[in-house]
Parts: sequence; structure tokens; C-alpha cells
Amino acid sequence: MQRIYITFVVVFLCIAGASAQSSNKLVAASAARGKTVYLQRCMVCHQADGGGVPKLNAPLDGSTAVNGSDVPKLIKYIVKGFADRVEIDGELYSNAMPAAADLTDQQIADVLTFIRSNWSNKAGPVTSLQVKQTRSKLK
Ligand code: HEC
Repeated sequence: MQRIYITFVVVFLCIAGASAQSSNKLVAASAARGKTVYLQRCMVCHQADGGGVPKLNAPLDGSTAVNGSDVPKLIKYIVKGFADRVEIDGELYSNAMPAAADLTDQQIADVLTFIRSNWSNKAGPVTSLQVKQTRSKLK
């Protein structure tokens, strides 16, 4: 009886381990695709190191919002653009971020997953379902 129990626990741990590993792989693949979107659409302003340009373009590396839990706000910035000229972590930025509404839900999820996990940022991934749901409320 005890042997059956131990076998069960071992099998369970193997399955749990394998599924955690495959979800890590999915996140890594999303971030890798997001890097391509970033290089094509964001780097010109936010720079390769995510440091932005002082007084012009907000930094993404170390940003409170980028690392924060208000993911719908981040999705809105991409879909609608962002030129509110409000203080971001105590600084003002004079440039205007254009909307990138032509990006697919998956591309937006990928680029946000990338910026939230790259440089010194360590926030969790964004899924295409989150983008889809937020986007439908923005229209
Ligand atoms: C033309 C320059 C430009 C481009 C291109 C651009 N941004 Fe921005 N971004 C800005 C500016 C300027 C701000 C700050 C706007 C403000 O203060 O009103 C900003 C703000 C942000 C913020 C909010 C940061 C914070 O800490 O609140 C995020 C997130 C962001 N951009 C992500 C992106 C992503 C992802 C892309 C590519 C899909 C992108 N941006 C493309 C200029 C740009």
C-alpha cells in the first residue's frame, strides 16, 4: 500500500515538474518573439537597454508601471498610444508614443512579456487572452 502511495507521489511530481518546465518554455518563446517586436517598434525611442532618453522617452527598465500589476494599463498604452505628459516615476517626457494597434493580440502579449522580464525587470508574463479582453473593452 505504501509503495503504491510513493509511486503515486513520484508520478505526480514528475508531471508537475514537466508542466512547469513546458510553461517556462512557452514564456521564454513569447519573450523571444517579443524582442523582435521591440527591436522593430519600440527600440527607436526606448533604446536597446530600455533606458529611454532623458526628458524625451520614458525608460522601461526599472519602471514601476512596467513591473506593476496593472497589465490592462500597459496594454492600453500600446493599443491607444500614450502622450499624457504625466509624471512617470517623478519625471516628465515630452515625446508622444504612437499607437501600435496594428499589432496582433499575441504580438502585444509577446512585447509586454519581453519588456516585463528583460533588463532588470522581473515581472510576470502577459497572455494574448489578457490583451484580447482588454482590447475589446477599449473599442
Ligand atoms: C516615438 C517614440 C516611442 C515609441 C516608438 C514607443 N514609445 Fe513607449 N513611450 C514613449 C513616450 C514618450 C512615453 C511617455 C509618454 C508620456 O509621458 O506621456 C512612453 C511610455 C511607455 C510606457 C509607460 C512607461 C511607464 O513607466 O509608465 C510603456 C510601457 C511603453 N512606452 C512601451 C512601449 C512599447 C512596448 C513600444 C513598442 C511597441 C513603445 N513603447 C514604443 C515613446 C515611445
